[in-house]
Amino acid sequence: MQFTTAFLASAAALTASALPQSIVTPIPADAKFGVITIRSGSPIHNQALQAARNSLLVGAKSQNASCDADTNFATFYINDEELFLYAASATPQTIFVDRSGMGMGKIGYVTGAEPLGRNWETRGWAIGANNELQFDGTGIQACPGAIDGSWSIWLQGLEKPGWNENCTTVAGTAIKTDNPIGCLYTQ
Ligand SMILES: *[C@@H]1O[C@H](CO)[C@@H](O)[C@H](O)[C@H]1NC(C)=O
Ligand SMILES: *[C@@H]1O[C@H](CO)[C@@H](O)[C@H](O)[C@H]1NC(C)=O
Repeated sequence: MQFTTAFLASAAALTASALPQSIVTPIPADAKFGVITIRSGSPIHNQALQAARNSLLVGAKSQNASCDADTNFATFYINDEELFLYAASATPQTIFVDRSGMGMGKIGYVTGAEPLGRNWETRGWAIGANNELQFDGTGIQACPGAIDGSWSIWLQGLEKPGWNENCTTVAGTAIKTDNPIGCLYTQ
C-alpha cells in the first residue's frame, strides 16, 4: 500500500502542475518506474499502467498479478533499451512490440525463456523528454473495450490498432519508484 500511496502522490503532483519541460527531473537510467497515462479530459487521464494476460492495460479492477506486496500497478525498468516488468526474484518478463502490418503496434510481454514471435521487437525503448516512455521515438495510445472495462495499450501510429476503435494517444509518463514491488504478471 505504501507503494500505491507514494505512486499516486507523484502522479497527482505531476498532473496538478502540468510541469514545464525544464523542471521535469529526468529519471535515472537504472530507475524502477511506474507509467501514468496523461491526456487531459480523457477517461484515462492519470491512470497507472497495469500488466495482465500478456498485455498492458489501464483501468482494470485488478491485474491479478502475484506480487511481493499489494499493488495494482506494473513496475518497469529499462536495461540496454529493453523494457522489463520488475520481478525482484521472480521470472523476468520482457515487453515486446509488433510494428508489422499484422501486429499493428501491439505491445505485449513474454515470460522467461518463452520465444518471441516473428516481427516482435524488444530493443528500442527509452525514456524521452518529459519522462515519456517511447519505443524508437514513438509513444503509446490506449483503446477502450479491453477486459473488465479496461483500456489496452498500443504503440501510436494507427488510428485503429488491432481494429480497436476510439483509441486515444496519451503521454506514457514514467514515475520513478524508490520501493519497487516485484510481480509475476498473468500470462
Ligand atoms: C482478474 O481475476 C478476476 C477473478 O478471476 C477476473 O474476473 C478478471 O477478469 C481478472 N482480470 C484480469 C485483468 O485478468
Ligand atoms: C466508439 O465510439 C462510438 C461513438 O461514440 C461508439 O458508438 C462505439 O461504441 C465506441 N466503441 C468502443 C469500442 O468504445
